[in-house]
Amino acid sequence: MATIMLPGLVDAHVHLREPGATHKEDIASGTVAALAGGVIGLLDMPNNTPPIVAEEAFREKKTLFQQKAVSDYGLFVGFDGSQVAPLVALAPQAVGLKLYLDETFGDMTTAAPEALRRVFAAWPGPGPIAIHAESASIRMALRLAAEFGQRLHVCHVPHPADLDIIAAARQQGVAVTCELTPHHLFLSAEDTERLGAYGRMKPPLVPSDEVRGFWERLELVDMIASDHAPHTRAEKESATPPPGVPGLETTLPLLLHAVDEGRLTLARMIELTYHNPLRVYGLRAPADSGVTVEVGEAYRLPATGYRTRCGWSPFGGQWGLGRVAEVRLRGQVVWQGGQCLAAPGYGQPLGRAHESGQDATAQ
Ligand code: NCD
Ligand code: ZN
Repeated sequence: MATIMLPGLVDAHVHLREPGATHKEDIASGTVAALAGGVIGLLDMPNNTPPIVAEEAFREKKTLFQQKAVSDYGLFVGFDGSQVAPLVALAPQAVGLKLYLDETFGDMTTAAPEALRRVFAAWPGPGPIAIHAESASIRMALRLAAEFGQRLHVCHVPHPADLDIIAAARQQGVAVTCELTPHHLFLSAEDTERLGAYGRMKPPLVPSDEVRGFWERLELVDMIASDHAPHTRAEKESATPPPGVPGLETTLPLLLHAVDEGRLTLARMIELTYHNPLRVYGLRAPADSGVTVEVGEAYRLPATGYRTRCGWSPFGGQWGLGRVAEVRLRGQVVWQGGQCLAAPGYGQPLGRAHESGQDATAQ
């Protein structure tokens, strides 16, 4: 069995559900799942209950992470269409501002042009404005980013055609970066019949010709992020299943298998899952950290038995390669032999790479 050393993954799109929905996941279970998946740092989204749109909610969530996290982390602030001033005040502590321009799980969708103009005018950085946007709203956000000189990050790009639109805007000087999810690269709309609500997420899976389109355009993509969005089985099997799938523990074996198949190089995988998430969000790599992966035969990913509280995966039956044997974080072994060795609160906020966050979109 060969052993490879990786710097670890930085997953820039994660929903750990605390506060508000800890029956799905909490900071302890979610950051343990992160380490199990070789993820040393994650960026947590603001669609909590309460939504993280003001100082008190941000402060409370930050305290919870300080007490409970075992991986490193960064926290987004969100915008609910009302107050901009608290976001400006929180900007130095947040990794970025998340805007929901289209409906998804949570209660933060803001598409009113007046509200968007206010927030694009006011956001001071240094983190980018990250958007959940399906095609038409991507164009609108690109226009706003150009008009207000903002750095824009398009989360989970829904269609390959959107990558072309983003690339064209970048050519015209818009400071835009983007991400793809593993589920859009390794599952397709053809899987939704088999998966039912377990294959339902926002943006939805696309037909296999579009999946091919994503792979053909991988050079236009800055990062792969899981959009780890756990919901319980009972919720998924209810009459109104919420969108979202877990992913912290499956990104690495899925991508290592794709590397083995020659679909991308190992260096490009590391760029997409480590260097670029840090670059885009202007963050510093934790020192003396890394992941030891044992690589044997390719295997079928299990459908159950994960550390995420929701306990299931939409990737059951997909090919994977490599198993995380050990994770080192800031000089300490935090994961070994399937066990978390870090005490709650060992996780730290990811530090800023440099004061201004400038040149973060430089390739
Ligand atoms: C996410 C969730 O459940 O929080 N769901 C999803 O389908 N992706 C919300 C989101 O990231 O849009
Ligand atoms: Zn989203």
